[in-house]
Amino acid sequence: MTTPVLFLLDHTRPLEETLWVLGDLCKDRDLGIQVLVCPDEALLRLVTPAGWEALTGHPVVSEQELPKYLEQKPLAVFCQDWRQDLAPMLAHSGIPVLLWGDELPPGVPPGSVALPEFEAMEILRRLEQLATPQDFAGKTVLVTAGPTVEDIDPVRFITNRSSGKMGVAIAWAAAVRGARVLLVHGPMTAEVPDFPGLEKFPVRSAQQMHDVVRDHWSEAQVAVLCAAVADFRPDHYVPQKIKKIEGEGMVLVLERTPDILAELGAMPKHPFLVGFAAETDDVEINALNKLRRKHCDLLCANDIRKPGSGFAGDTNQITIYAPDGTVLALPMLSKQGAAYRILEEIAKRV
Ligand code: CTP
Repeated sequence: MTTPVLFLLDHTRPLEETLWVLGDLCKDRDLGIQVLVCPDEALLRLVTPAGWEALTGHPVVSEQELPKYLEQKPLAVFCQDWRQDLAPMLAHSGIPVLLWGDELPPGVPPGSVALPEFEAMEILRRLEQLATPQDFAGKTVLVTAGPTVEDIDPVRFITNRSSGKMGVAIAWAAAVRGARVLLVHGPMTAEVPDFPGLEKFPVRSAQQMHDVVRDHWSEAQVAVLCAAVADFRPDHYVPQKIKKIEGEGMVLVLERTPDILAELGAMPKHPFLVGFAAETDDVEINALNKLRRKHCDLLCANDIRKPGSGFAGDTNQITIYAPDGTVLALPMLSKQGAAYRILEEIAKRV
């Protein structure tokens, strides 16, 4: 998204909050949003035009220049307040307004929304929604993310490597397209942002993840299982810390955990099912095997040995396999970019 967005700023709103939120929106130039600010007179006395330009990377838009900028069709106009003197011009422009407040005044252009919270993530999600087809509206998408943790005793556990970033990116991408999202996630390093439409289900073990998915899968039309579920767990949990015995090793007996994806795939009627495969060898053969064996509708595979395709990073290079033989090799993308592409492929099929 490289479309400009106009921010009409009002001195009656807390300046510190305004600077904080705009700073967040401008920080990630990758998002492609061009933040154009039009502060009112009083605000321009508090922060000079040069200050605003340093923050946003773009000269301030004066109120006199507003008609010219509106003609350039920005994606949206964010208003901190509904100014009666500017209302006719904004209404006439037809450009959606994001208005900070609980409700919209009459006469705002179609697509406008009231935003009760002045919060960067929420503004971003709304902007992305305006730029994205709402083809998941009315649909529920279940996502699993992060690792699971299988406890051995109160201080020891086994787990899989996973930051959870890919799953969070999928959840976000689905919400942006209008979905209700159920995110079932293990203990992750990735931050899970709060956004409307997202319901979080934190779990620890594979069994807990399985049980939550089993309770909710029937609500979902789409299930994207990104979690790095531990395939094995200790055959029993020892409630006291296991003590070392001098000179002796230890045998840990492991048993299989439930395979959530395989179990969903085996059901006669299941949501549109997307699996993931992180492979080190024979990526294509393993991916196609997994697609068939777990009855997925799509399988997203990545070669974790490739630079930029690993666990903790922010990028991923994914190839998407479909049962009809379609293979789509995506370029190296940010995890968020890859998530958008995966959602596009799902949208074509549901
Ligand atoms: N998965 C799952 N439950 C498990 C194990 C895996 O839901 N207990 C899901 C993952 O979320 C992912 C896919 O299955 O979507 C990846 O499977 P993976 O564990 O890589 O495949 P395996 O069946 O373990 O095959 P292999 O061990 O041969 O790689």
